[in-house]
Amino acid sequence: MGRLSGRVAIITGAASGIGEHYAKGLAAEGAKVSIADLESGDGVVRAIRDAGGEAMSQVCDVSDPKAVARLIRSTDEAFGGVHVLVNNAALAARLVHKTVDELSSEEWDRVFAVNVRGAFECVKAALPVMRRQGYGKIINVSSGTVFKGVTHMLHYVATKGAIIAMTRSLANELGKDGIRCNAIAPGLTSTDYMKSRNDIAEMLIGMAKSRAIPREEVPGDLVGTCVFLASAESDFITGQTIVVDGGAVMH
Ligand SMILES: NC(=O)c1ccc[n+]([C@@H]2O[C@H](COP(=O)([O-])OP(=O)(O)OC[C@H]3O[C@@H](n4cnc5c(N)ncnc54)[C@H](O)[C@@H]3O)[C@@H](O)[C@H]2O)c1
Repeated sequence: MGRLSGRVAIITGAASGIGEHYAKGLAAEGAKVSIADLESGDGVVRAIRDAGGEAMSQVCDVSDPKAVARLIRSTDEAFGGVHVLVNNAALAARLVHKTVDELSSEEWDRVFAVNVRGAFECVKAALPVMRRQGYGKIINVSSGTVFKGVTHMLHYVATKGAIIAMTRSLANELGKDGIRCNAIAPGLTSTDYMKSRNDIAEMLIGMAKSRAIPREEVPGDLVGTCVFLASAESDFITGQTIVVDGGAVMH
């Protein structure tokens, strides 16, 4: 029996990148997995089913409350609950690096709409199901950039700081309902997309050298923390942000 047998997990932004690895990792521990992404998650669903797991996918924009409501309803109907919500979807790797002066108000609002309001919409929609169960695990995805004060991505870093603030306030507000809320803050991680970007290659090498564990971070490095925060093993942990980056940041 897996550590997540009998659990249902929604992972947003799981059609590719780190989210795909979270989905496969949670499914490998027995969770029924529901993938939500702007892109089709059918390939990830097939891979999970081929490995003996259960999964479904839905095209969903996390910044659209109606689409999010459909996601929660269809997952609950198909799998009988929502125990774990991983708020992983974000405008992230594909953002163009810019100075503060170059950023437009429209870009700022869009990044906040997806990265912050998207997480809020998913939490709000999942709450009635989690309250019905008297149990829930919300896992938000922040970023090591918050602790480092990384430049040229002010809008992005600000959203990831907001995610830490939301994690703490949600933990305090929802603890009495049996709902835990924690965050993972990954370091710069070599996803397939990152590896395809020649301009980032040097940054990945530089980052590797700056770590206490001096090597590249890969998506698989993040899966264990996600499984732990989704499982009963972490049921007395809430409001916390775990930095998973080989010790580049210590807080
Ligand atoms: N890769 C890194 O170095 C790194 C570092 C720190 C934090 N993170 C965080 O980890 C998470 C995943 O990062 P990644 O590198 O895999 O990102 P990515 O850009 O490769 O993948 C993000 C996924 O989210 C989806 N998505 C984007 N907007 C969406 C929306 N409105 N609704 C639903 N889905 C949407 C995309 O289609 C994509 O599949 C993000 O929250 C990111 O901020 C990544």
